[in-house]
Amino acid sequence: MNVCIYPNAELAAAAAAILIAGQVIDKPRSVLGLATGSTPLPIYRELIAMARRGALDLRQVTTYNLDEYMGLGPDHPCSYRRFMWENLFSQVDIPAGNIHIPDGLARDPAEECRRYDAAIAAAGQLDLQLLGIGANGHIGFNEPAERFTTHSYCVALSAQTLRDNRRFFEEGAPMPTHALTMGIGSIMQAKRIVLVATGAGKAQAVRGMIEGPVDPMLPASILQMHRHATVLLDAAAASALTVR
Ligand code: GLP
Repeated sequence: MNVCIYPNAELAAAAAAILIAGQVIDKPRSVLGLATGSTPLPIYRELIAMARRGALDLRQVTTYNLDEYMGLGPDHPCSYRRFMWENLFSQVDIPAGNIHIPDGLARDPAEECRRYDAAIAAAGQLDLQLLGIGANGHIGFNEPAERFTTHSYCVALSAQTLRDNRRFFEEGAPMPTHALTMGIGSIMQAKRIVLVATGAGKAQAVRGMIEGPVDPMLPASILQMHRHATVLLDAAAASALTVR
């Protein structure tokens, strides 16, 4: 696990964008695993800027998003499909047919998850998976649990995640209690992983991920076992590390 600490979130995001751009320059037909949440926003802004300047050509890229809320369709303002459209896909020229996000309206969630994993495998697995981290150490929506998950699946969101993500939903509006997420096994098959964590709210999870034992109660700790994982932190997210 390669850990890089930057003075602020903007620089950590710039570094992530450089790694993603480098991947696509090296392999224009890259298969990218993408993430939602507030952490990737400055990364996507940077990628959009690079694409607009002509420094980055995303036209042959294929993308698979980590997760989607159950019950939210593409038009729902809080669906991850809508999030990705607004914050990245509407502003770059990745062909619509190359964009993949689990279908939160799937009648048969288990079948949708099987289809999703099979599609990633058929694409040759992810060349690079971008990750954020939840305050409880979750990646994608893989919540703390007794064992690491394998394939994509439908998960019941933890009380902490429901609290943390409430801010994205209108006050009083119902919030999904379940999501479809790539499993830890699906994520670990990515050839390269870039995890970005910013802000003091992530400091304890970051410490556990890097310095703690590999423990399914802190799902991101599995990344210690990945052969090519890069963790990009701002100073606040790195503040609980004992070795810096
Ligand atoms: C959600 C997503 C995760 C993301 C996490 C942290 O739960 N499913 O992929 O890493 O939020 O979000 P933020 O970057 O807003 O802190």
